[in-house]
Amino acid sequence: MIFATRHSPITVWAVDDSSAQVTWGRLPPGPVTITARTPSLSTIEIHHDGGPGSIVVDNLPPGTSTIEVRRRTGVSTHRVTTLTRPPGQELARIATISDLHLGATRWGLLKTMTERGDHTLPHPRRCAHGAIADAVAWGADLLVIKGDTVHHETEESFRELGDLVDEFPGLPMLLIPGNHDLDGNRNPDACGRVIPPSVGRRRLAFTRSVDTVDLPGVRVVAADTAKPGKGTGSTARIASDVLEAATDSDRPMFLAIHQQLQPGRIPRHWPPGIAAPESTDFLDRLDRLVNPVLVTSGHTHRNRARHHGSVRVTEVASTKDWPGVWAGYKVFEGGIVQTVRRVSAPDALEWTEYSRRAVAGIWAQWSPGRLDDRCLSHAWVSQPHLVG
Ligand SMILES: [Fe+2]
Ligand SMILES: [Fe+2]
Repeated sequence: MIFATRHSPITVWAVDDSSAQVTWGRLPPGPVTITARTPSLSTIEIHHDGGPGSIVVDNLPPGTSTIEVRRRTGVSTHRVTTLTRPPGQELARIATISDLHLGATRWGLLKTMTERGDHTLPHPRRCAHGAIADAVAWGADLLVIKGDTVHHETEESFRELGDLVDEFPGLPMLLIPGNHDLDGNRNPDACGRVIPPSVGRRRLAFTRSVDTVDLPGVRVVAADTAKPGKGTGSTARIASDVLEAATDSDRPMFLAIHQQLQPGRIPRHWPPGIAAPESTDFLDRLDRLVNPVLVTSGHTHRNRARHHGSVRVTEVASTKDWPGVWAGYKVFEGGIVQTVRRVSAPDALEWTEYSRRAVAGIWAQWSPGRLDDRCLSHAWVSQPHLVG
């Protein structure tokens, strides 16, 4: 099917090792009851105000179970298979968001889709706020913001970014610029000149080369691949520092960047990111590291996952357009679990459901990826026979 249904169906959107997120584009007002047909038979009942919605079902057993969704107009059942829990204890939780595009007012191929209804805050702000609030509720130890924080490089939009991050003073953050953060508000002479060194009263600094945060079981590395005035990215400035950060560590590396590492020279989809052979050379070097690596990007506003040798490579979609997501990573002693959940705030879901109609509905099919592009369990496999 190319053209999308008007509203997304009831879907098991996300899973991890013990939970599932069920989302829907429209249900009538009234009670919604979700029953997980597990040995303990857990039931969640909410009063739904109508429209789109989201429920997270926790404490699912390993393997496949059935979830029943009962609403005023009927009952449906959905199979859910949890991800393999990596060996060892859970040690830390990382959340990421990207492509907030604060200041954007339009969406769609012809930029004809605009805000609907009365809202105090514009949709990019609502979606970003909802994503961070979800990540805090989930238990994130650290949030990595992976670029395109603003739609254009303006003082006003960076002030809004500061206001946003100040709303979560207790959450440690890393902040990476994307191409939109360095676009000079479409003035070639201003590219990279307006972006401030830091945002908010908390003075959250932009990573302009490579920054690291060590959490139990993982070294988080944020790297700036953006080039002022360009949509494409590059690893040239950051590759040696990233490799040094990995080799100077006793733990696996979680690497966050903005532009995606393309598998080839010619981009197979829009927008172009970091092209081969630069991208593949960089991934080859990551693959030869002793410590395992997961690298995740934004920029494409879609969800995809692949392997490059031992390196797990993921792209995670935007907070602000369909499907409107954030990513959570549970770090275990023996691996990492990525789950990409839709932002659950009703006033965010209302916009992201609308935005799925973009590109004559093709966006609804294109952006989400498959469930295993979004949600995956990756075992750390160190390579002691190799030298970093
Ligand atoms: Fe973007
Ligand atoms: Fe981008």
